[in-house]
Amino acid sequence: PKVVPTVFSWVPVMGNAVEFGKDPIHFLKSCQKKYGDVFTFQLVNKKVTACLGPDGNQFVFNARQNLASAAAAYNDMTKYVFGRDIVFDTQHSIFMEQKRFIKSGLNIDTFRKDVPLILEECNLFLDKLEPKGQVDAYHMFGALIINTASRTLLGPEVRNALDDGVAQLYYDLDQGFRPINFMFPNLPLPAYRKRDVAREKLAVLYSQIIEGRRNNPDNVQEDLLQTLMDSRYKDGSGIPDAQICGILTAALFGGQHTSSTTSAWAILELSHRPDIVTALRQEMIEKLGSLKAEFTYDNLEDLPLLENIVRETLRLHPPIFNMMRRVVVDEMVYEKNGLIIPKGNYICAAPGVTQIDETYFNNPMKWDPYRWSEKTDPVHALEQGDDANIDYGFGAVGISSRSPFLPFGAGRHRCIGEKFGYLQLKAVIGTFVKRFDFEGVTEHVPKPDYTSMVVVPENSNIRFTRRD
Ligand code: HEM
Repeated sequence: PKVVPTVFSWVPVMGNAVEFGKDPIHFLKSCQKKYGDVFTFQLVNKKVTACLGPDGNQFVFNARQNLASAAAAYNDMTKYVFGRDIVFDTQHSIFMEQKRFIKSGLNIDTFRKDVPLILEECNLFLDKLEPKGQVDAYHMFGALIINTASRTLLGPEVRNALDDGVAQLYYDLDQGFRPINFMFPNLPLPAYRKRDVAREKLAVLYSQIIEGRRNNPDNVQEDLLQTLMDSRYKDGSGIPDAQICGILTAALFGGQHTSSTTSAWAILELSHRPDIVTALRQEMIEKLGSLKAEFTYDNLEDLPLLENIVRETLRLHPPIFNMMRRVVVDEMVYEKNGLIIPKGNYICAAPGVTQIDETYFNNPMKWDPYRWSEKTDPVHALEQGDDANIDYGFGAVGISSRSPFLPFGAGRHRCIGEKFGYLQLKAVIGTFVKRFDFEGVTEHVPKPDYTSMVVVPENSNIRFTRRD
């Protein structure tokens, strides 16, 4: 049997963690040059087999659940953040049911009602900015998106509680979701204790809200919370309150940081491309009549440049650039070249690497939203793989896990929040561009910082001036 090549390390114990931690994309790309698409490296106490390129994407995302498991890769960490008996802390088939519940709450009818709520939150928030000033875009969009996401997904009660200390609970919970927690899920340290306290306090808050709704049938809401309260497992049972709390926390996490960092990157990229800002405003005037016209679900669907700004930002700055599974059988065979990956290893796909590979994208390091309308990149000529028609039951049909462009993953673990994510991002970015002029404070778009769970800009300050 052929053994996967191992990346050399000078440092015992830590292995390649320091290099990987600093700039994982550079690390993976330089190992790829030396060892090929498949190689194993050491992250402190974990062996990770990188599976790069479209074949690697397909191998990881299409892997059968009983061979390589997402739960075995993530649950050590996520159970402390989301809570027990949900997502990765339950049988795979139960999680798939839970995923369908979330997906069923994210439909076009709810989106139509969500857009005015998102806009109201945006305007309330942006009204408070000075006429002119400087702000950290990542922090600003983080604070804004927790409002828009909790208002639409969790409902008005949680949204109203945010200002009374609940935002701090989410922050404390966040501290359990850093790369360090992947390596050391639980330590007797204050940050870990705060995480646990925050999770328990949020569970109490959600339970009170659920109770309140049950006792007051006139309180009719159409948010994810209500969808979950009304859902039934296949065996006919309702979702226990404790599970509803955990699923809501997981959904908020799924959408919060990914969208905050993507809006910050989009605005930072735009701040260095005034021509695209002008073109975007022109598109809005042409399609909506004027910059004063309100966005709606339907007119947001009709702004291709805005959509491509989001898509291009997800290509160059994917918030989640690699995704892991853990081998749970004695050995897995990487079919293409017969390499053997042993039990216990993590297998890792890295769409963040294929998304900046010049084999698929011309001038890949250039942020160019027009590439998606011009369609001259090699990626546009690729055929979908055979697996594009597998129906996992939550709307991922038509996406091949062999694609080089997978910011939402692929296969059975693919994101169910893509549509909501695009909608929220378009509404937030569009509103900011309508209402503010802005410029970067550095000569170039800042570099990525990989030390937090999603990839954030190293310096995301912008200067802004109110236009209205
Ligand atoms: C899964 C990215 C928004 C909920 C994923 C995965 C990625 C991703 C890469 C696959 C993870 C893996 O294979 O290991 C993103 C990005 C978003 C976004 C870039 C926004 C720009 C959302 C939103 C929600 C959400 C808004 C919820 C409302 C989920 C869920 C999964 C998932 C439930 C499934 C995890 C699994 O099956 O293992 N997302 N996401 N995401 N995401 Fe998202």
